[in-house]
Amino acid sequence: MEVAEKILITGGLLLLLFAFFTGFLMGRVREHAFQAPKYLILSHMEPLMQGTLMLALVWAVRMSTLDGRLEGLAASLMVAAASIQGSKELLNHYQGLEDEFAHRPHPIGFYAARIQSPMASVGLIIFIIGVLRAL
Ligand code: HEM
Repeated sequence: MEVAEKILITGGLLLLLFAFFTGFLMGRVREHAFQAPKYLILSHMEPLMQGTLMLALVWAVRMSTLDGRLEGLAASLMVAAASIQGSKELLNHYQGLEDEFAHRPHPIGFYAARIQSPMASVGLIIFIIGVLRAL
């Protein structure tokens, strides 16, 4: 098994564990509240989607004909970006934010989103190039 596959599988499962943990936190909040706060919901939903996405990308690695180190870089970028995204949603929640865009001064979550987005995009583009080259 390639290093990139191991990174995606381990990262994906840890993201799902994170999502289950925030689901547990949301269950506790919902015992006393009409609805869960926005950023707590996001810290549940995003790692659920991203964790599943990491597991699905294993197929892209299998098809890709790029150098294994480049695929490892792409996998690391995508797992790191997803981890930053889930963590910053939970941080936003604990900071009591309602809108990371509108809040002044901009909170850490706002800048974290600006960092993780290009990381994930570069990782995805590497996988797309690898897959297109293999067609
Ligand atoms: C594959 C597993 C899971 C999926 C696909 C899933 C999906 C979802 C979705 C779609 C929502 C609705 C979010 C919204 O309010 O718009 C949600 C909310 C929620 N989830 Fe999960 N979830 C999963 C696992 C878990 C686990 C393991 C827990 C508890 C440990 C959990 C606890 C909750 C709670 C408490 C809510 C809020 C419900 C509410 O506000 O009415 N979830 N989940």
